[in-house]
Amino acid sequence: MTWAGAAYAAALRHGRGPLFLHRADGGRLPLDVERWCAAPDHADRTVLARCAGSVLDIGCGPGRMVAALARAARPALGIDTAPAAVARTRRAGGSALLRSVFQDLPAEGGWGSVLLMDGNVGIGGDPAALFRRVRRLLAPGGLLIAEAATAEVDERCDVTLDAGDGPLGHPFPWARLGPSALRSHAEADGWTTTGQWSIHGRTFLALRG
Ligand SMILES: C[S@@+](CC[C@H](N)C(=O)[O-])C[C@H]1O[C@@H](n2cnc3c(N)ncnc32)[C@H](O)[C@@H]1O
Repeated sequence: MTWAGAAYAAALRHGRGPLFLHRADGGRLPLDVERWCAAPDHADRTVLARCAGSVLDIGCGPGRMVAALARAARPALGIDTAPAAVARTRRAGGSALLRSVFQDLPAEGGWGSVLLMDGNVGIGGDPAALFRRVRRLLAPGGLLIAEAATAEVDERCDVTLDAGDGPLGHPFPWARLGPSALRSHAEADGWTTTGQWSIHGRTFLALRG
């Protein structure tokens, strides 16, 4: 089962897990659904404060970042492949489209800032391809803010969602990059790191293409 399936929809409906990404080796990566469904916390606000211009939140989930930007009258759009995420973002007052980052998107080449939060550098399981896509979405000189995994990892894996009772459905590709790996992959792909900060155990990089 992918993000568009019933397990993620149920977690978003209830605003809580348990929900995991289940790796083929049996390892389970907990997903912080409770935090995603809450208002932006202090760490999130450090990201919001750095955003400039129009903001595209890739894999916006239930939309806490997009909704906060909308409340501040700042132009922002969330995109997500899960209908439940898009619906919840809209209910929270944010704009959202049911669309993959790899499909055609509005204002390609014109976004002031792009967000990859909460492990979303893992989307598609190929960070280099995702970085290339983000570069085409940003306006010249635009800003990518990407959140690293908490551990110093650099891995590609096939995962399924797991609501606590084992893997659900077909595996899909995912990636995890800790702070060092995120920075070195991004810089190898031609990005310049203009900031890196850690707060409440989370690490973010500000990158310009
Ligand atoms: C790790 S969760 C992050 C949740 C989110 N940032 C939040 O605030 O709740 C990954 C999110 O990315 C979405 N997603 C997965 N693949 C995607 C793709 N190709 N394009 C856009 N969104 C995607 C999932 O549906 C899910 O909501």
